[in-house]
Amino acid sequence: MASNRLSIKTKSKKYFVFIGENSFEQFRKVVSDSSSKFLFIFDKNVNKKCSNLVTKLLSDCKNHNKLVLVSSEKNKSLQTVNKILRYLSENKFDRESSLVSIGGGLIGDITGFTASVYQRGIKYYQIPTTILSAVDSSVGGKTGVNFNGIKNLVGTFYQPDGVFINTKFFDTLPKKEVISGIGELAKYAMIIPELYDFFLNEIKTIYFEKSVNEKVIINSLKIKSAIVNNDEKEVSGLRKVLNLGHTFGHGFESASYYKLKHGETVLCGLLCATLLSERLRMIECNYCKKILDDFSFIKINKLIKTIDTNSVISFMKSDKKNSSGVIRFVIPTQNELMIDYPVEEKIIYNVIEKFKSVISNYDI
Ligand code: GLY
Repeated sequence: MASNRLSIKTKSKKYFVFIGENSFEQFRKVVSDSSSKFLFIFDKNVNKKCSNLVTKLLSDCKNHNKLVLVSSEKNKSLQTVNKILRYLSENKFDRESSLVSIGGGLIGDITGFTASVYQRGIKYYQIPTTILSAVDSSVGGKTGVNFNGIKNLVGTFYQPDGVFINTKFFDTLPKKEVISGIGELAKYAMIIPELYDFFLNEIKTIYFEKSVNEKVIINSLKIKSAIVNNDEKEVSGLRKVLNLGHTFGHGFESASYYKLKHGETVLCGLLCATLLSERLRMIECNYCKKILDDFSFIKINKLIKTIDTNSVISFMKSDKKNSSGVIRFVIPTQNELMIDYPVEEKIIYNVIEKFKSVISNYDI
């Protein structure tokens, strides 16, 4: 069985993403062709729940070491990076060595950041085990850790040397993690209107049948690669469209003290951005209603309604995407996305309150 292959061509690096069960074969070629050292950085849950897949993955890698991390926002810190760097140094990893991340976006971001600073940069590979990391964070080279209570404040742009996606990992994901992945898929639906129906149907299949078609991963990563290939470091503004839903999302995520998952809050953020667009008269009321209705089958985490709106706004102000205390958004309109659009706090407050009342009508 062949795996699908996508090629990513950014200014700083070219690499492949392999998608399918046979992506492991491709990974084995990387490790068995190499005589250098590999450090595998595992999410503890994956190590435990997917031990068969993990054993298969490691079987051809003679020269490997393994570190297991608990995947939590608290651990997405410089202390964890310090721990990995110490391990690399004490075990004499050199410039030819590689890191391999096996886990969700959080483990991938920590691994990528560590790879980018050890000996001024060593190779790293991503093996995403969640839907969210497969369709978004494993590709594009955003790495980083939280600092001083601010999400991803310290980080680098550093592309992986390869990404290997095996959907079998998704079989053991809890519902909350599945919904988190759906958040990023809903984002792609809203970025590319021509693919809106495709993504909405795939999201329904994932939500109700927990079955992830490889095509949805391929289409997501085609969109992502078209963007990062042209604006790797978010300089021209093009890459900012990938932050759709993330200003509200990061606010909810931080104000919940990370009890809500990233993609869950992105989903809420997309719906808030739609309500905001209606409030600013950039979309018609009927269009806004259609988007809200289309996603109303998803049970949004009840916690969202209990989060203090002022606290969400105060976290939004410290989001690294904003400057001088002005909160800026990517706003969806029917034809295009508005980037860096500044919005008054009072309007943001009212939109969040409206969102909370709208989702009270959902089945949550
Ligand atoms: N997840 C947004 C980006 O990669 O730019």
